[in-house]
Amino acid sequence: IRLIRSKDYDHLSQIAAKKIIEQVKHNPHAVLGLATGSTPLGTYRLLIEDHQKNETSYYHVQTVNLDEYVGLPSDHPASFHAFMKKNLFNLIDLKEENIHLPNGNAKDLDHECEKYEKLIEDLGGIDLQLLGIGRNGHIGFNEPGTPFSSKTHVVQLSPSTRRANACFFQSPSEVPENAITMGINTIMQSREILLLASGVEKAPVMRQLMEKSISIDLPASVLHRHSNVTVIADEEALSSCG
Ligand code: F6R
Repeated sequence: IRLIRSKDYDHLSQIAAKKIIEQVKHNPHAVLGLATGSTPLGTYRLLIEDHQKNETSYYHVQTVNLDEYVGLPSDHPASFHAFMKKNLFNLIDLKEENIHLPNGNAKDLDHECEKYEKLIEDLGGIDLQLLGIGRNGHIGFNEPGTPFSSKTHVVQLSPSTRRANACFFQSPSEVPENAITMGINTIMQSREILLLASGVEKAPVMRQLMEKSISIDLPASVLHRHSNVTVIADEEALSSCG
């Protein structure tokens, strides 16, 4: 893992956006793995700004998102589909048919998971996967204990993850109980991975991650086994690291 220390959230977003823009310029047909959550929002804003100012084009880019809730209509404002449209997809020249998220409304969810794996494979794999990190070390919706060999699968969301995401819903009970997520192995197949961590609430988990011991109790620790991972973290997120 290469660690890039940024002074604050804006700086982190600038470094991350620059890496993604470089990737897209270098390979206009890039397959980008994307994440939701609050951490990548600043990065997405800068991608939009750059697209408007410098006309970086996403016309041939394919995107695959990490995860989606089960049982929310895709136009529900809290669905990851709606989140990505609002915060990125509608504001750049990405083609509708090149946008991919797991379908949380598929009749046969296990089949949907297999289809999503096959889709990623057919696209030629993920060139650059963007990740956030949960306070418990989750990546995607892979909670502690998830086997490193996991492929795209259906998960039951932990109470803490449901609580963390409740702000996007009218009431906490509205948060779906299940989601589809790329598995840890799916994520590890990406050619390059960029993990972003910002804020003091990520300090304890970043300390654990930087201690370098690999365990399924800390899903993100698997990234030490990947040869092309960059962690971009701000000072607050690194404030517990020695
Ligand atoms: C998002 C995702 C999650 C988040 C993580 C951090 O698609 O899969 O793993 O990246 O929960 O979320 P934030 O950025 O809101 O702290």
